[in-house]
Amino acid sequence: MHKIFANTLFIGKQVISLPSCHSTNDLMAQLSAKKQLHEGAIIITEHQTKGKGQRGNQWNSPPGENLTFSVFLKPNFLLASQQFELNRIVSLSVLDVIKEFESSVKAYVKWPNDLIVNKKKIGGILIENSIHKGNIAESIIGIGFNVNQDSDLLVTATSLKNVFDKKFELEKVLLSVVEKIEHYYLIARSRDFKLLHQLYEEKLYLKDKVAFYEDSTGKFNGIIRKVSPEGVIEIEDEAENFRKYQFKEVKLLS
Ligand code: BTN
Repeated sequence: MHKIFANTLFIGKQVISLPSCHSTNDLMAQLSAKKQLHEGAIIITEHQTKGKGQRGNQWNSPPGENLTFSVFLKPNFLLASQQFELNRIVSLSVLDVIKEFESSVKAYVKWPNDLIVNKKKIGGILIENSIHKGNIAESIIGIGFNVNQDSDLLVTATSLKNVFDKKFELEKVLLSVVEKIEHYYLIARSRDFKLLHQLYEEKLYLKDKVAFYEDSTGKFNGIIRKVSPEGVIEIEDEAENFRKYQFKEVKLLS
């Protein structure tokens, strides 16, 4: 990856680009502890040897084919209870980039932040925050975005190459994502959370549609009705009860 020139105020002005590392999120945490990062710094690598996913899973991506990177933010204008705004910002950014290539494509965010095209996952987000005196002092935003991968994709996964049947320049896709993140981040910083919430709900996968879910009490049919400002999802079940879940408490089965 060459030097990138993002059309931004602060995101992407410091870029650390490596052929390989364990995990861009972990490296970012180490460099942040040594006070070596400015807000907006990016760490990007062609190959993660210990890429981390949600729920303690691994994130595997063939070298040089996809985007695996992290962005360093200091969103101290957000309370700890507002952490989910960051998920919204990043999800909307990646979805906008996909839509820019072809506006008719149906791209969604599957709560909390899996990015979905044609019912398959095209990207994932792992956000790791540190809290100081009730506010978010630092946020490491890890993004795995399947761009040019064409083979060895899980049956549940896809890539831009798969969807649009052409290859993309990783650098250009990265620049677009970074510019969108700054755009939505500035909306959050101006405290227009209402707009972020509305945009996120418009892109919410299976909102107002019947689907099959599983929680700690068993399986049930339900309909996603909303996501609260704090990121709690509300699913209406067949008895018209509104079941509320935090991360990891409910799973979509179909
Ligand atoms: C998910 O499970 O959906 C989240 C995947 C997040 C993967 C990215 S790749 C860059 C960054 N570094 C990591 O180790 N993980 C995130």
